[in-house]
Amino acid sequence: MTARGDLRSYRLVAIPGDGVGPDVVAAARGVLAAAGARFGFEIAWTDLIVGGAGIDAYGVAIRDEDLAACAESDAILLGAVGGPKWDDPTAMVRPEQALFAMRGGLGLFANLRPVSVHPALVPASPLRPELLEGVDMLIVRELTGGLYFGDRTEATGAAGARAASDTLPYSEPEIARVAGLAFELARGRRKRLTSVDKANVLATSRLWRTVVHEIATEYPDVTLEDRLVDACAMQIVRSPASFDVLVTENLFGDILSDEASVLAGSLGMLPSASVGARRTAHGLHGLYEPIHGSAPDIAGQDLANPIGTILSGAMLLRLSLGQADAADAVERAVAAALDGGYRTGDIWPRSVAAAEACTRVGTVEMADAIVARIGPAAAPPGRGPDFDVGTLVATSQLLGLL
Ligand code: IPM
Ligand code: MG
Repeated sequence: MTARGDLRSYRLVAIPGDGVGPDVVAAARGVLAAAGARFGFEIAWTDLIVGGAGIDAYGVAIRDEDLAACAESDAILLGAVGGPKWDDPTAMVRPEQALFAMRGGLGLFANLRPVSVHPALVPASPLRPELLEGVDMLIVRELTGGLYFGDRTEATGAAGARAASDTLPYSEPEIARVAGLAFELARGRRKRLTSVDKANVLATSRLWRTVVHEIATEYPDVTLEDRLVDACAMQIVRSPASFDVLVTENLFGDILSDEASVLAGSLGMLPSASVGARRTAHGLHGLYEPIHGSAPDIAGQDLANPIGTILSGAMLLRLSLGQADAADAVERAVAAALDGGYRTGDIWPRSVAAAEACTRVGTVEMADAIVARIGPAAAPPGRGPDFDVGTLVATSQLLGLL
C-alpha cells in the first residue's frame, strides 16, 4: 500500500486469462473500483497475460517475472484459463500449468469455496426447494498436494499397450496445516467439520484421517465427522444443509465443489480464495478466482455470469486487504441485484412463473446493477465471522507458519 493524501492504495494483479475470463474480471474490477470510491481506497492494477493467452504471447503459460509480480502484489484476481485451442493432449505447454505454478509457487495451500443459496435463486436449482433451505457450507480444498503435484508418467509403450500413471502423495505437515485451518474456520462458524477421504482404499487417506483426528484433540468444541468421498458426494445433494465446513484433499475438493455449485443455482455463482501462510501489510496474500472455467463457447459475448468473480473480489477485500466493510457492501449489493430480479442466462428461473419477475441481463448490465447497489457500511446482515482475517492469521500463527 502507498498513501496518497489519506487515500489508501493497494497493488493488485489482474489475470483475465482465457475465454470468459476477461469478461468477468472486467466486471469485477468495476465493482472493486466502486467499492474503493465508496470506502476510500484505490487499486493500482498490474495486468498479466497468463494461461492460453500467455502461451500465445510468450510460449509459456506463465513467465517467472509474472510469478514474481504476483508475489509482490497484495493479491491476485484471476478469471479463468484454458480452452480448446490449447487442449492438444500431447502439448508440452498447457494453460493450466499457470494455475499450478501460482498455487505451488506462492504457497497457496488452502482453497476456500463457500457455498450458500440465495433465496431468489432457489428456482434456478434443479434440486427441490426444501433441500436447499439453510445450505451454508464451506469447502476447504487442499491445493498444493496430491494428484495435482505428484509424479506422473505420460503414455509410454507401443500402441495397444500404452500406460500412464499419476501418484497421490501427502505428507503429515501438508495435511496438518490445511486441517488446522479448517478447524479454525469451523470454530468461527457452526463448529462442525466433515473430513472427506477414501480411507477404505487409499493409504494417503488413512494418513489424512489419522492426522485430522490428532489435530481434533486441540478443538474439543468442534464436532468432527469422517466421510468417504463417494458417500459424501451423495449427501451433498441429499441433505446439503447438514454440512458446515468440509476439508478434503485436492482432487476430491475439485470434484465436490463443482457438485456443490448446483445447490447455488450455477457454477457461475461461486467464488473462491486460495491462501497460504504469507501475510502482507494488510492481510493474507491470496489468489481469488471464480470456480467456473473459461467457457469458451460464450467468451466475449457479454453472456457470462460475473457474480462468482465479483464475490471472489469481496473475499479479496476481506482476506487480503482487511476491507471487511467494503466486502460486506459488495456481498449485499450482489444479493440486492438478485432480489431486484437481475439474472444472467445461467441463473434464469426454470419456471415461467418465477421468470416473470426477472430481467435477463448480460455480464456488463449485471455488474452495473451491482455497482448501483453498493451502499455505505451497514450493520452486518447476521452472518458469522466465516472469513475473519484475524482468525486466519491467528491460525497460521498457531500452526507456526508465519
Ligand atoms: C479448479 C479448476 C482447475 C483445477 C483446473 C482448471 C485445472 O477445475 O480450479 O477447480 O482442477 O484445480
Ligand atoms: Mg474445478
